[in-house]
Amino acid sequence: MNIYKIFRPLIFKFDAEVAHNLVIKFLKFMPKAVTLFCYNRHYENLQTKLWDIDFANPIGIAAGFDKNAEAINALSKFGFGFLEIGTVTPREQIGNAKPRLFRLCEDEAVINRLGFNNLGSENFAKNLEKAAPKISCALGVNIGKNKDTEDMLADYLVLLTKFYAKATYIAVNISSPNLKNLRDLQSGERLDPFLSKIMQKKNELKNFCKKNVPILLKIAPDLTLEEQEKIAEIAIKNKVDGLIISNTTIFRDPNLKSKNAVEIGGLSGKPLLEKSNQVLKNIYKFTEGKIPIIGVGGISSAADVYEKIKCGASLVQIYSAFVYEGFGLVEKIKKDLSEMIKKDSLKNISQAVGFYSK
Ligand SMILES: Cc1cc2nc3c(=O)[nH]c(=O)nc-3n(C[C@H](O)[C@H](O)[C@H](O)COP(=O)(O)O)c2cc1C
Repeated sequence: MNIYKIFRPLIFKFDAEVAHNLVIKFLKFMPKAVTLFCYNRHYENLQTKLWDIDFANPIGIAAGFDKNAEAINALSKFGFGFLEIGTVTPREQIGNAKPRLFRLCEDEAVINRLGFNNLGSENFAKNLEKAAPKISCALGVNIGKNKDTEDMLADYLVLLTKFYAKATYIAVNISSPNLKNLRDLQSGERLDPFLSKIMQKKNELKNFCKKNVPILLKIAPDLTLEEQEKIAEIAIKNKVDGLIISNTTIFRDPNLKSKNAVEIGGLSGKPLLEKSNQVLKNIYKFTEGKIPIIGVGGISSAADVYEKIKCGASLVQIYSAFVYEGFGLVEKIKKDLSEMIKKDSLKNISQAVGFYSK
């Protein structure tokens, strides 16, 4: 039985952001209570290894759910193979005016225009320090820039340096639609020098810390085919360790049913699935499968995960579906996915990566 479905009508009575903050507080202050609701089963054929890191399964929570690294301990109990926390910016910032988070129930989607609201990197580092020793799964730190920072690169370099030794991987987020001019960094002439400096800093830190922490670039789904090809080319040239595809979309399908579809911001959830899969497939092809990809956008079932993996994802992430299904979804997906792999006579999940391009 899905316990979340019992509480959902009550949770949905609250404004979406208020509800989210209540859930975070619950997870933060009652991590033990969480264990009553979860069981974490291990499936041999979901185990995977990437960048020399072991993942018990390929399913992670996407960035934005735990922006301040407050709920890591509780989140690690829901059966995820990895967690991505943040986006964190160097300094605290309040984000855009409220309301700025909307449910699109009829479409099983979400629109947000939060604008990197977070408590800043000092607070984040303290929370991370406290929680990290207690958890065993991989922990990605997603970094971004402050709204009022002119020199974007400087913010990313500060955060890269601050979290390099503490993270399993660092996600460089240049694709939020809610921060003016941020996504311009994805354009070829700006991305190349930006990434070159990021990877240069990574190599310095790698030598200094004697630890190789993968650097991943998170991109938007709203890119032309030419832009996608250029990003693939620049990512290969700069030896980026991985890509996260994708962030939320600014595109609105006219068939969306919810009245909230008119809200400005990034759309996530079911309507994003096909669009993000298409970009994932294209980039996998352009990079010839040489750069590992985390596929994210619109996943709500094991079939969706399997599809992303066949398009070229080595790992996947979920956010919006948890709003509608709760975290019990993680175990359900693991169970169903494990069976799907068996049915296809595959030894493990990694054998399916990029199946469509083979
Ligand atoms: C409320 C909300 C906040 C988000 N905040 C961030 C963020 O801070 N950084 C980021 O990289 N992505 C953020 N995202 C995007 C998600 O990480 C993910 O890329 C996107 O929601 C698509 O996945 P989904 O369809 O499973 O939700 C956010 C998404 C939502 C719904």
